[in-house]
Amino acid sequence: ESCSSSSVHVRLQQSVRNVLKPFVRDKHYLQPFQLSPETLQEVSARLRKDLLRGLGKHSHHKAPVKMLPTFVRATPDGTEKGDFLALDLGGTNFRVLHVRVEEEAQKVLKMDSQICAIPQEMMLGTGEQLFDHIATCLGDFLESHNLKCQTLPLGFTFSFPCEQLEIDKSILIRWTKGFNCSGVEGKDVVQLLKEAIQRTGDYHIGSVAMVNDTVGTMMSCGYKDQSCEIGMIIGTGTNACYMEEIKNVKRIEGEDGRMCINTEWGGFGDDGSLDDILTEFDVEVDKTSINPGVHIFEKMISGMYLGEIVRLVLVKMTKDKLLFKGQISEALGTSGRFETKFISEIEDGLENAKKILTELGLDWGLVDASVVCLVCDTISSRSAYLCAAALATLVNRIRNNRKLDHLKTTVGVDGTVYRKHPTFSSKLQKAVRLLAPQCDITFLVSEDGSGKGAAMVTAVAQRLAHQSRLLEEKTVYILTPYLQKH
Ligand code: BGC
Repeated sequence: ESCSSSSVHVRLQQSVRNVLKPFVRDKHYLQPFQLSPETLQEVSARLRKDLLRGLGKHSHHKAPVKMLPTFVRATPDGTEKGDFLALDLGGTNFRVLHVRVEEEAQKVLKMDSQICAIPQEMMLGTGEQLFDHIATCLGDFLESHNLKCQTLPLGFTFSFPCEQLEIDKSILIRWTKGFNCSGVEGKDVVQLLKEAIQRTGDYHIGSVAMVNDTVGTMMSCGYKDQSCEIGMIIGTGTNACYMEEIKNVKRIEGEDGRMCINTEWGGFGDDGSLDDILTEFDVEVDKTSINPGVHIFEKMISGMYLGEIVRLVLVKMTKDKLLFKGQISEALGTSGRFETKFISEIEDGLENAKKILTELGLDWGLVDASVVCLVCDTISSRSAYLCAAALATLVNRIRNNRKLDHLKTTVGVDGTVYRKHPTFSSKLQKAVRLLAPQCDITFLVSEDGSGKGAAMVTAVAQRLAHQSRLLEEKTVYILTPYLQKH
């Protein structure tokens, strides 16, 4: 039985109350994680203001939510086709893929793919080492799949905040999610990749399109459902993109049409705007992270941090002699040892909880296991509700932009937390309905947005480039007789 189902929930709460009543001072443990609907509405309203700051010409540079233009102006129209390479860096694994987009079958096929591990030291080493490793992995992949003699276009899913100047020029603003390679922030990532490939002296690639994973996710769903105009990730990190009216993006010239904006909502709260809802555990997680003070919202929500928040709560309860007979095992006392995937497993059933607690070397009883279950449920629920508040802000904004009473739209979603947790998606969806009652949202789990989606973005970029080239040729053709006469 799932530990968040209501009967178990009531039973858990009773166990906590009855057995731990003399000890549990709620406000010191779980109560600060429980956000009321009014608080969530307030969070959503604060994000609404921050979206405007990020879009503004003069407010942008100081805005915690960056609202980055992606230069993606169109979703797929079904005429895209061809073979592509894709690189995917910034999620659980680094991957290299060969993807085929078929026009007739309206299909995106993953031909082959390969996962390359990025060792922890490399995540904290020099940029040159990281990009050399990427170039070598790509070279090995091309070699083993007999693709070395072709020059294929490449979609690079690089899931970090980047100031994109063109589709193939993208400056890393800062690392997130445990990466911190020197000499990359402030540089053009496409250039660094190309230089590393040149250093191998071994193969060539065609044109490059830089893609954030949220954009790849939106585009991979957009191939199936044309009304997909939001992409959301709740995995190692969290973020979302959506189609904004160009006239509202004050840093871009032009009045007509839409552009996909990478919100980088993980940075929400970096100016202190969420301080009143942060718990002592959030503050600790931030302090001990490799990027203190930044991506505050992400640290309350995403897979990189949820396990650690749970661990810190359990450690405090144990120190206060409320759990495990007051004995902290070595594993529980070590940061990073309580993995986020344990939360999903524990909430999936009490039996899993018992197994995991044993593996963590803890001397547990039934009440301990139930309390751990409740702690996991409280912290994962807060994550789902905060995401719901943020998503509600986006759909409400799209509805207002289009002056609609009612908006029907689709959100493409990906990420391990959303996919793997037993109740996360249903809690999120229920809360969004409450917070955005005039929006009717379909949720589509993306099928490999970071791989196939990246190929799709590259294909759309090529289609648009091809169209504009045709226009230029036409212009030359029209102008030639005129030029000859004068
Ligand atoms: C990055 C985003 C990314 C998100 C999800 C965040 O840490 O800043 O660019 O989309 O993680 O992977």
